[in-house]
Amino acid sequence: MTVEQQPTRGIVLAGGHGTRLHPVTAGVCKQLLPVYDKPMIYYPLTTLMLAGVREVLVISTPRDTPRFEELLGDGSRWGMSLSYRVQHDPKGIPDAFVVGRDFVGTEPVALILGDNIFFGSELSRTAQEAVAGNNGATVFTYPVNNPSAFGVAVLDAQGSAVDIEEKPAAPRSNLAVTGLYMYDNDVLDIAASLVPSARGETEITDINRHYLEAGRLQVVQFGRGMAWLDTGTHDSLLEASMFVQIIEHRQGLKIACPEEVAWRMGWIADEDLAALAGDFAGSAYGAYLTELLA
Ligand code: TTP
Repeated sequence: MTVEQQPTRGIVLAGGHGTRLHPVTAGVCKQLLPVYDKPMIYYPLTTLMLAGVREVLVISTPRDTPRFEELLGDGSRWGMSLSYRVQHDPKGIPDAFVVGRDFVGTEPVALILGDNIFFGSELSRTAQEAVAGNNGATVFTYPVNNPSAFGVAVLDAQGSAVDIEEKPAAPRSNLAVTGLYMYDNDVLDIAASLVPSARGETEITDINRHYLEAGRLQVVQFGRGMAWLDTGTHDSLLEASMFVQIIEHRQGLKIACPEEVAWRMGWIADEDLAALAGDFAGSAYGAYLTELLA
């Protein structure tokens, strides 16, 4: 299932204000809310796992970071390593590389936003190839019907990036830049040098423009056969839950089950999966893990 790749660290950015989901997020952060049958963070976390990333840092708020630690642990039961850092203020997405600088060390790094859900048969292979082939920065686009709400990539006829615009009033393409990014180690210094935009946050688009201007930005286009779902509003959160429910009911397979992904990636053995299933005895989730082995 895996293609050969260089070691890459992964970061899940799972803090923020969650303003649009108030009052639901007044007591708990968005990425701990359920998307159908599992916590939201399982989805971005398993996307990194499917990309072959085994060392992951979770960044969240002072209030919620201990909750993520309680939920996910040190990762050893999934054959991976999970660690945690606090972001004291939501200063912007690039702040992940300031808060996570020690964790990244001298390695390349993949970043995923904690509220982004990816699903589709091209995901695993595409993400693994991007990890293996990244030379600078790689971003992933997805066609949307409201590009003005996103960072948008403008491509030439060969599919190379010509421009990246943040929330353009008159978008020149319908290709939104999604919340999955891969960078070489230079991103640490680039992020540290950014100044906040008019809205008071540093912008991931500024990092991507930096690589674009250096001729080192690769764009991978996810096609219409993929699903990229956002969960930032009450409606999009409910829609994401219904999407997951429909697919899972139809296939009898779960989306974003870390135990299953770890097992399919070969990071844990049959007996490990059986033990994990035992931990969930009495739930449909545990029964599912047991069925995988049969
Ligand atoms: P956003 O959706 O831009 O912001 P938010 O989650 O705070 O929500 P709202 O707009 O309703 O206030 O953030 C995208 C993701 O990145 C989300 O998972 C939160 C996370 N994030 C951080 O953890 N720290 C930050 O500084 C920022 C800007 C975002």
